[in-house]
Amino acid sequence: MCYAIPGNVKSITGDLITVDYFGEERKARNDFYDLQVGDYVYAQGGFVVQKIDERDAEEILDTWKELFFELKETDVKLSRLYNDKPNLDKNFLKIIDRATYGKSISHQEALRLLLSEDPDEIDVLHKTANFIRQKFLGNACCVHGIIEFSNICKSQCAYCGISSSNTTLKRFSLGTDEILGVVADAVKRFGFKGIVLQSGEDPSYKSEDIIGLIKKIRNNSPVFIFLSVGEREEAFYQKAFDAGARAVLFRFETSDSNLYSKLHPHSSLEKRIRYLELFKDIGYIIASGSLIGLPGQKAESVIDDFMFAKDLGCDMYSFGPFIPHPDTPLSGHDAPSAEYVLKALSVLRLIDPYGKILVTTALESLNPQARRMALMGGANSIMLNLTPKDYVNLYDIYPNRATVDVSIENQIADALQLLKSIGRAPTDLGI
Ligand code: 5AD
Repeated sequence: MCYAIPGNVKSITGDLITVDYFGEERKARNDFYDLQVGDYVYAQGGFVVQKIDERDAEEILDTWKELFFELKETDVKLSRLYNDKPNLDKNFLKIIDRATYGKSISHQEALRLLLSEDPDEIDVLHKTANFIRQKFLGNACCVHGIIEFSNICKSQCAYCGISSSNTTLKRFSLGTDEILGVVADAVKRFGFKGIVLQSGEDPSYKSEDIIGLIKKIRNNSPVFIFLSVGEREEAFYQKAFDAGARAVLFRFETSDSNLYSKLHPHSSLEKRIRYLELFKDIGYIIASGSLIGLPGQKAESVIDDFMFAKDLGCDMYSFGPFIPHPDTPLSGHDAPSAEYVLKALSVLRLIDPYGKILVTTALESLNPQARRMALMGGANSIMLNLTPKDYVNLYDIYPNRATVDVSIENQIADALQLLKSIGRAPTDLGI
């Protein structure tokens, strides 16, 4: 089981290296290792995350050799574009044609696509998004693991089940040794190369604890570390970077400042955006996005969010449906349909041909087929849940979360089977 292909170092210029994968060259930044040309490494998110022994690397490469090219071939076949619908609207086709060549589409054009109710148009939209993903990003699909280590939260986001206003929820917080155990298993036993450490905004978890945890992970189980711990003091994020974290998953939730204020009485959109700018300045890889289908959110606002995320320079997009939680002020509202969210993700792919697009667990919770459908409609990244089973149900941000009752072994087996069937390599080769 591999979530990354060993790469062979071809050249080194300062902290930037060129890595070869079966004749394909990619760049990666090396912040952590003393490397020579000819060494083997794992890269993830554009960073070298592990140096590997030559013999181990060659053994793993041997198992990948044929599969690497087989998967590519399947992907190319499945993402081919052919026009079997001659009677489509001319205006629609003009937008699709331009996007196919990687040209950016305007707000108005994106909205035209998102508002389409025509099944033929929607089918062409998904296929075009898949074609663009294949053309500009190839068949790599990131598979990261997420550990939800605390459901204690001081904030009161109106949609969120772990908001401090929900007094009925039993709270938990994993100790650092427990988290280290989960990460060690994820990295050493299951082969994850990227993990997300996620929690509510838990003041009982001291910044020093998280920084200590990052250092220990880097020493014991080298892996690409995403932080998703919300709004903490600004100095924390520099220290966490220095300790070895390299990415932040931090949604802006909505780019509509009025809606933002209504949903987040404890904060402001301005403050949220300042954090994202801070992360960029420090040098983090940014994964961000918003909730699709929030009460009071129009389709225009979804496109605003996409444009906003693109302008922000997101490396990965995390856009998922709002799902009403019974113990929140938004309990009486409806979730959007999975079809609407899938359509939106395809529009996002046309807006940005290059960013990674995550299939969120929330979307998978609306429809068990949604992971496959999203991957066939422009998305190229998934997350598996590593939270220990005694706690995973308590991380109750929304009800009926997909995969909470599936063991990590089975989640991996399901993901690999799906990716293989659609010609995607469970690996992140980078840029
Ligand atoms: N439905 C969907 N996503 C939610 N989140 C919180 N509550 C909900 C909900 N009811 C998302 C937020 C947050 C992420 C960790 O979980 O967007 O950023």
